Amino acid sequence: MEIKIASGNIREAEADAILLCLFEGTDRLEGDLAEIDSALEGVITRLLESREIKGKPGRLTNIHSLGKLPSSRVVICGIGKEDELSLEVIRNTTAEACRSLEQKNIETIASIIFRSNQIPPDKASQAMTEGALLGTYCFRRHITREAEHGKISQLTIITDDDRLISEMESGCEKGKIVGEAAMNARDMVNEPANYMTPFDMATIARQTGNETGLEVEILEKKEMQEMGMGALLGVARGSEQPPKFIVMKYNGGKSTGTEIALIGKAITFDSGGISIKPSAGMEEMKDDMSGGASVIAVMGAIARLKPEINVLGLVPATENLPGGNALKPGDVITQMEGKTIEIISTDAEGRLALSDAIGYARKQEVKRIVDIATLTGAMQVALGNVCTGAFTNNQELVDKVIAAGEEAGERIWQMPMYNEYKEQNKSDVADIKNTGGRLAGSITAALFLGEFVGDVPWVHLDIAGTAFTDKTKGYTVKGATGVPVRTLVNLVLSLVE
Ligand code: BES
Ligand code: MN
Ligand code: ZN
Repeated sequence: MEIKIASGNIREAEADAILLCLFEGTDRLEGDLAEIDSALEGVITRLLESREIKGKPGRLTNIHSLGKLPSSRVVICGIGKEDELSLEVIRNTTAEACRSLEQKNIETIASIIFRSNQIPPDKASQAMTEGALLGTYCFRRHITREAEHGKISQLTIITDDDRLISEMESGCEKGKIVGEAAMNARDMVNEPANYMTPFDMATIARQTGNETGLEVEILEKKEMQEMGMGALLGVARGSEQPPKFIVMKYNGGKSTGTEIALIGKAITFDSGGISIKPSAGMEEMKDDMSGGASVIAVMGAIARLKPEINVLGLVPATENLPGGNALKPGDVITQMEGKTIEIISTDAEGRLALSDAIGYARKQEVKRIVDIATLTGAMQVALGNVCTGAFTNNQELVDKVIAAGEEAGERIWQMPMYNEYKEQNKSDVADIKNTGGRLAGSITAALFLGEFVGDVPWVHLDIAGTAFTDKTKGYTVKGATGVPVRTLVNLVLSLVE
C-alpha cells in the first residue's frame, strides 16, 4: 500500500472511498462533515438524528454517494469522545476502516486526518499509517489459491491546512518505517519453522544489513565454541540445523560506547527437547523466535531512522529438538562467563540461549541490555495476551521501556523480582539450575537471566502471551502481532540525548 499526504479538500478527492471521522456526542455537523452532508442531501444528519450513528470508537458506516461526489463511497468512522481520543483509537479505527474496504475490493482511499487538539498532526498521521499497514497485513505466502479480494493500493491523507503538511509527512514516513518493521517481524514469526531456520534468520539479518548499511556478523558453531557458549550450544545439540549467533551493529552515535544491546530469543522451533512438549498445540512453537525477529526488524528500522546512538542487536538462533546428541535432564553445562547450569528441563531452553547472548553483550561493555523472549508459559497464565511482562534490575530503565510501550499501544506490566524467589533456582550440583518449579515460573526465569546480567542496567520482556494472537481486532491480525517492535524503536529513540 502506498500512503501519502496531500493538500486539498476531501470533497474533491477522486479515490474509490473517502474516510471521515465523527466524534461521539456530535450533534451539529461542521467542516468537511457538514459539506459532505449537504452534497449528500443531508443523509449524515438523518443518520445522526435517528441515532443510527453515534461516533462510538471503531464503528463504521458506509454510504454510497450515488454520483453526488467524485468518490463512490463515504465511510463515517466513529472515533469516540474528542477528549478521549488516543493514538491507539486512531490506529485501530484506521485499521478497521481499511480492512473492511479492502474486503469490499476498494483499491484507493482518501481520508481526512483523524486528530484532536491534544494530538499533534505528526503523531496522528504516524498512527494512521501504522494502522493502515498493520490492519491490512496478511500472510498468505504458502497459500496457492487466489485471494478472495484485492489489496488497497493507495491511501492519501488529505488536509486543507497547508501548515500541517510537513509535520504530517514526517509522521507518515516514520509510520511507514516502524509499521513495515513490525510487518517484517510478523512475516518471520508467521513463517513455518521449516522455512524459518537459524540459517534463514541469519540470511534475513544479512539482507537487512545490505539494504540499510548495518554491520552484520554471523557467528558459526566453531566461533561459539571458541567463545565458550556452552549454554546455547547445549540447546543446539539435539538438532541437525546448525545454530547461528547473529550480531547486528548500528553505529550512529558520536561517542564510541554502545548505549543499548537488544537481545532476542530465537528458538526457531521449540519441541521441548528430551523434556518433550505435549503434541497438542505444539505447532505454535514456531513462534518461539519472536524475540529474535523483533530485534532483527528493529535494527533495520533504526538504521533507516538514523538516530545518533550506537545499538547492538544480538540474536542467538537454534532449534530445540530431541536428537540423539541432545541435552538431557541432569546434564551440567557451562555458560560463556563460566557459570555452571544444571539442566532440569530441556524445555527451559530460552534462558540458556539468552545467558550466552548476555555474556556476549557484557563482553562488549554495553551500557544497557533489553532482552525480548517468549520465555515462559507461566507469563501467559499470569497476564494473558493483554500485556507483556517486564522484569528489571533498574527502575529508571524499565520506566522508559513502559513509557515507550504506552506510546506504541503495546502494554507492558512490571513484575516483581524479590530475592526470596531466588531460592527456587538453587542447584545441588551446579551454580544454578534451569527451572525453578511450578510457582512463579516467569519470575524464576527472569531471576535466572538476572544472574548472568550482573549489574548492567537490564530489562527482560517476556512476550510469551503477546507475540501471537488467535483473533483479528483493530490493527492486530490473527497470527504474529509484531510486538514489541514499535516499543523498542521508541525506546531507542528515547535514549538519544
Ligand atoms: N517457549 C516456551 C515458552 C512458551 C510457552 C512460549 C507457551 C509461548 C507459549 C519455553 O521455552 C518453555 O517451554 N518454557 C517452559 C519452562 C518450564 C520448563 C520451566 C514453560 O513455560 O513451560
Ligand atoms: Mn521450551
Ligand atoms: Zn522456548
